[in-house]
Amino acid sequence: MTIRIDDYYAPATFERLKTFADGQETPFVVIDLATISRAFDELVESFPFARIFYAVKANPATEITELLRDKGSNFDIASIYELDKVLATGVDASRISYGNTIKKARDVRYFYEKGVRMFATDSEADLRNIAKAAPGSKIYVRILTEGSSTADWPLSRKFGCQTDMAMDLLILARELGLDPYGISFHVGSQQRDIGVWDAAIAKVKVIFERLREEDGIVLKMINMGGGFPANYLQRTNELAVYAEEITRFLQEDFGDDMPEIILEPGRSLIANAGVLVSEVVLVARKSRTAVERWVYTDVGKFSGLVETMDEAIKFPIWTERKGELEEVVIAGPTCDSADIMYEQYKYGLPLNLSSGDRLYWFSTGAYTTSYSAIEFNGFPPLKSYYL
Ligand SMILES: Cc1ncc(COP(=O)(O)O)c(C=O)c1O
Repeated sequence: MTIRIDDYYAPATFERLKTFADGQETPFVVIDLATISRAFDELVESFPFARIFYAVKANPATEITELLRDKGSNFDIASIYELDKVLATGVDASRISYGNTIKKARDVRYFYEKGVRMFATDSEADLRNIAKAAPGSKIYVRILTEGSSTADWPLSRKFGCQTDMAMDLLILARELGLDPYGISFHVGSQQRDIGVWDAAIAKVKVIFERLREEDGIVLKMINMGGGFPANYLQRTNELAVYAEEITRFLQEDFGDDMPEIILEPGRSLIANAGVLVSEVVLVARKSRTAVERWVYTDVGKFSGLVETMDEAIKFPIWTERKGELEEVVIAGPTCDSADIMYEQYKYGLPLNLSSGDRLYWFSTGAYTTSYSAIEFNGFPPLKSYYL
């Protein structure tokens, strides 16, 4: 498939990224902050009733958290390390939630001491830790959702609990002196089926009603997580279509009685702003007669492209070489045979591609730098630049 730059970047943006990239040694990712700024604005316009909590794990770079801080974003934080990093930029703890359901009691205490008062949970053990370490805090319970088969990067097996358990936990939260505040879900990252939000919101509605009627607990918030799309090889609907549909689902279920809505976007805010630039190390064939070529490049699964695991995320790959395309296997530079990015899905790259040519991996602003190993085979972590 021929990749067209215009399908992914405004011409001026790509020009700027490319000009900068031309002066750097590969591999690295270069990120356009103006694109992130526009993506944030678009999200706010699409969901005017929601509060945005940027999922810092997507890319924790200070350049990004400072930009989003200034634009009024809140922050979904996964660990004490992310917390310290975001607090160091001057963000007030009231703009932070601890969204990881898997955490140590002492880490909960750390968040509480720093002023954080909103915590996710999905298990009794964690809830009891929160009650002790963060008394009186707001609790939202994450529920399991469907949609794993239509998300490129599913998230809802490890996290979340069944509806009945969610209700039990919120009742227990009240007994333990916490504030049973809401429900969260995450339909899976890069979710292509918008209908999955409909099913999740319907589940939430049942929990809201039953807790109010049976237990006198009035929940106030729905945290709808992330899952909004970036532009990869397989196209998705525009964000506006997601927003229109999800708003309709909410209105159908909650009417004028809409609770507070939180979104936790990561990928959709950041991915499209980045280009990862790598260099072809070698092009080889496995026998004299083999048709298939192997393209080894200086970036791989262990240096930022973890999301190529099971070929889940298919990044568009562009090169300046033109000419007839032929199917290739694309692999990284390490001495590990797991370090193959694409083998089943057949990428086509020009026949005249050779050592030293550059590959431009589009839409790589999210979940690349933070996933990069620090020294596997001696290779340093993926470099990143912010324009
Ligand atoms: C709790 C939570 N919120 C939000 C996100 C961000 O999701 P996405 O990158 O699909 O927007 C994640 C991703 O792992 C998550 O775990």
